[in-house]
Amino acid sequence: MAPLTVTDPSPPSPVPARILVVGGGGRENALGWALARCPGVEQVLVAPGNGGTTALAGCGQLPIAESDHGALAAACRAHAIDLVVVGPEAPLAAGLADRLRSEGLAVFGPGADGALLEASKRWAKDLMQEAGVPTAGYWAATDRQQALDALERHGRPLVVKADGLAAGKGVTVADSLEQCREAIEEVFAGRFQSAAPGEAAAPSLVLEERLHGPEVSVFALTDGRSMVLLPPAQDHKRIGEGDTGPNTGGMGAYAPARLLDAAGMEQVRQRVLEPILAALRARGIDYRGVIFAGLMLTEEGLRVIEFNCRFGDPECETLMPLLGPELAQVLLACATGRLEQAPPLTIEPRCSACVIAAAAGYPGEVRRGDPIDGDLGDAPDLQLFHAGSRRSEAGPVVTAGGRVLAVVAQADDFDTAFERAYDGLGRVGFEGMVYRRDIGHQVRTRRPALP
Ligand code: AMP
Ligand code: GLY
Repeated sequence: MAPLTVTDPSPPSPVPARILVVGGGGRENALGWALARCPGVEQVLVAPGNGGTTALAGCGQLPIAESDHGALAAACRAHAIDLVVVGPEAPLAAGLADRLRSEGLAVFGPGADGALLEASKRWAKDLMQEAGVPTAGYWAATDRQQALDALERHGRPLVVKADGLAAGKGVTVADSLEQCREAIEEVFAGRFQSAAPGEAAAPSLVLEERLHGPEVSVFALTDGRSMVLLPPAQDHKRIGEGDTGPNTGGMGAYAPARLLDAAGMEQVRQRVLEPILAALRARGIDYRGVIFAGLMLTEEGLRVIEFNCRFGDPECETLMPLLGPELAQVLLACATGRLEQAPPLTIEPRCSACVIAAAAGYPGEVRRGDPIDGDLGDAPDLQLFHAGSRRSEAGPVVTAGGRVLAVVAQADDFDTAFERAYDGLGRVGFEGMVYRRDIGHQVRTRRPALP
């Protein structure tokens, strides 16, 4: 008789003891904070970090630029790193994850191939079409005349999108044909060309049908096959109250956005995320990291406005406090292709509110070097994350960029969450600080007391 075989239960999902977070914004401050809270995580290093990550419990800082792939790889070896989490898109598009994986490291973040989802608008639109993902109609052009001809044929204003990473500045939503023509000229004058390696050398663009409706951000953590969806979040892109004025990186956010209920999220999974992952696999791309779907809810149904290969900022600051102690394990499981073996990620069913404090002049030129006052301590439902800040040689933390601080608060309802966040904002500050008082206007019934 054959001996009885006992099958091993699936191996437990390991916890990474030592984590490197790459990046220096509010997003990476929030990632470092959330990962350092996970039981079993011994140390989180942030490279290059900012003035806030220097003060995070359980976090250390490495003065290495996100573009210095060789130094980052050496730091991973020197510090016996178990997991690398890459925050921004530029190092992903430049192949940082590929480089680190080639050295046997576990990396949360796609390779340069998967990062094309964000780094090339045209590549992403072609993939969406191939996958049957609902998105605006588009025309790609590699020369100026071709683009102008497509616009004339269409006869109505189109959205003009420079191909390649343009730090959020390559999109023009024009109201007139004249504005469209100007935007096309700007693209072909090379205004949005970035020097990042791997990007198309010659300017090219995508013209897109203009859609209308509210926007919402959905994030899927994935190992290339399975995925975990985070609560939908809504960002506030314009600098001015009432959603007016120039676009910014984001002046505040809240989650969960009521624009998508459970059925809506299921639709996003089935119609957007699963097909795009399948299309990536069909191209031989093993995508391990986060897929950020920027969606517009139009009268005809949901449409993808863009994909990004990273967490949104400030959506990341807003969402991290809602995530449970399994986060480090889940990100490692994504990085190693074993998401199904990870424990379920706890997501607190609470409201999270985030308000950004920016330096005067943002999103234009800003003054730097102003001391930042205040500290919110260790309150359980309130966090202060730093973005454009640095520790000065003299000691104090000073402003060092456009978006400087993110104050985030949680509560059982949005009114209380925003009251808490604005109250926190009143206890920190720097010369010339600007912020919007109407973040979350979509979900608030009371205007909070102003600091
Ligand atoms: P993107 O850089 O692709 O996120 O675009 C920046 C912003 O431009 C989006 O958040 C939208 O508000 C707007 N936008 C992009 N594409 C369209 C479109 N097809 N129709 C209307 N607005 C758009
Ligand atoms: N907050 C939008 C973005 O990170 O692109």
